[in-house]
Amino acid sequence: MKTVLIANRKGGCGKTTIAVTLAAALADGGWQVALADADPQKSALRWLRRRPAGAAPIRALDWTGAGALGSGTKGADWVIVDAPGSIYEDDAAALVAEARAVVVPVLPSFFDADATRRFLKEIAGIKRIRKGKAGVELVANRVRPRGRDAARLAAFAGQIGQAPVAEISERVAYGDLAELGLTVFDRPQRVYAPMRAQWTPLLGALTS
Ligand SMILES: Nc1ncnc2c1ncn2[C@@H]1O[C@H](COP(=O)(O)OP(=O)(O)O)[C@@H](O)[C@H]1O
Ligand SMILES: [Mg+2]
Repeated sequence: MKTVLIANRKGGCGKTTIAVTLAAALADGGWQVALADADPQKSALRWLRRRPAGAAPIRALDWTGAGALGSGTKGADWVIVDAPGSIYEDDAAALVAEARAVVVPVLPSFFDADATRRFLKEIAGIKRIRKGKAGVELVANRVRPRGRDAARLAAFAGQIGQAPVAEISERVAYGDLAELGLTVFDRPQRVYAPMRAQWTPLLGALTS
């Protein structure tokens, strides 16, 4: 079993979008996948309730209650954890203790880069991460083809000494599909192929 924590203190950076897309991609690949929601807003669980019966199955785990953390994972190949936005050191350490990898979404904006830099510094102090038992992967999200996004991301990568493993474009389809309990991995249409391709490096890093 591999547990992947999707976390960043910065709200709205795409934690839930990345959690559900990863879960669906792995489920589509034939794995037994559990999606654990540790965020009291429970967006990932609400997404799962909308998921149509015919879609690749994903098990729902509610990790928001007292003592629920880490429960219900038996038989799962993958546990994808949607972390709360209000994650502070104790919760972060408890969640990271469950994880093989931490995926940190970052938006190509000055404010997000700054908050993400602080978050990365903080989690770097957690023993499991310091000892290399849990890897940290950055994912640039909502990247626009024009404008300064590429330059901002390059500057950010330079500052922290780590480049994003994947860059996910800004596309309305993410929100539209989420409303239906779906992701780009649930849709075979050719228009979604370039979007799916952007997830390949992250999936490769996690499955290697
Ligand atoms: N790559 C993307 N392209 C377009 N919209 C996105 C993308 N990623 C996330 N969003 C939208 O941004 C908003 C915040 O994303 P969400 O995944 O809920 O972030 P978080 O869980 O970190 O608060 C949502 O409305 C979501 O649909
Ligand atoms: Mg969320």
